[in-house]
Amino acid sequence: MPRTPVNVTVTGAAGQIGYALLFRIASGHLLGPDTPVRLRLLEITPALGAAEGTAMELDDCAFPLLAGIDISDSPDVAFDGANVALLVGARPRTKGMERGDLLEANGGIFKPQGKAINDHAADDVKVLVVGNPANTNALIARSAAPDVPAERFTAMTRLDHNRALSQLSKKTGVPVAEIRRLTIWGNHSATQYPDIFHAEVAGKNAAEAVADETWLAEDFIPTVAKRGAAIIEARGASSAASAANAAIDHVHTWVNGTPEGDWTSMAVPSDGSYGVPEGLISSFPVTTAGGEYRIVQDLAVNAFSRPRIDASVAELADEREAVRALGLI
Ligand code: NAD
Ligand code: LMR
Repeated sequence: MPRTPVNVTVTGAAGQIGYALLFRIASGHLLGPDTPVRLRLLEITPALGAAEGTAMELDDCAFPLLAGIDISDSPDVAFDGANVALLVGARPRTKGMERGDLLEANGGIFKPQGKAINDHAADDVKVLVVGNPANTNALIARSAAPDVPAERFTAMTRLDHNRALSQLSKKTGVPVAEIRRLTIWGNHSATQYPDIFHAEVAGKNAAEAVADETWLAEDFIPTVAKRGAAIIEARGASSAASAANAAIDHVHTWVNGTPEGDWTSMAVPSDGSYGVPEGLISSFPVTTAGGEYRIVQDLAVNAFSRPRIDASVAELADEREAVRALGLI
């Protein structure tokens, strides 16, 4: 018996990330090879034609798991029955725009989308916010969705996690498959803190294996934290395929679970763990099982890590104050 298709809503479907993401969702990489999907694409009105073009290409792939594609410029329609919602579309910062302008512009996007999720999504909806500033956009959407359990709203730091894995692999010569328990803490921004003190490379503690605090402070952390800007500088456009890949990883892990003895990084509403104020959508080490995640508890936070976590969390708290002042939450 064919299974009922899972409704996957993707916003910003005609954008760069959308183009790299949709084909992988339709081919089964998001939810697995046995789960049919129905794509619900949300775009702004002027980009509906481009979304139609992408839908034509999706048709031309004849993906066996793709049960249908709907395209709309109405959040109420696109989120109707959504089981998974990938909020990718966002207003990028343009010349002359201040941070507050960006937060306000995105409030105009994420508040109505949060309300549409509240009113129309399926009871089991899982939300991943990719559009920047991802953590605070997720906070705005969550605040507009009081009937959806808060923990269903997450933001993406998996790209940062994957970037950190790759840098650590290069430094140690150990394949990424043998690296476990890396953590990204805080905001998906240059203040994020990639933490290797609990990580293992080929079964050894990563910080001890590296034994090079200068590399950690002056190379690894800034390389990971500023990788987004380095990609923009090199490509002339922000990361797209790697961001789409990370979105696939985030949802796949959330749905299918973390491997025994490992964890991943997700930005999730804080329950106060590790001194992160409750409600902030901050990145933590999390394990997942049965479609739910749990923040890993009781890790020792050393004197190197503490101020770095605190600085990124302070930035999130500032962003929360800014959107509160704008009436967005
Ligand atoms: P893009 O400009 O190519 O595409 C964005 C798309 O969103 C456009 O097609 C636009 O029409 C659409 N859009 C704008 N407002 C919308 C709305 N209200 N509803 C639906 N669609 C809307 O950008 P991109 O390269 O695809 O990046 C998308 C976002 O992801 C950006 O904010 C970018 O900064 C962010 N990003 C986040 C991460 C991360 O790790 N969290 C990584 C890379 C990029
Ligand atoms: C990234 O991390 O690649 C994106 O968030 C783009 C950016 O602005 O850094």
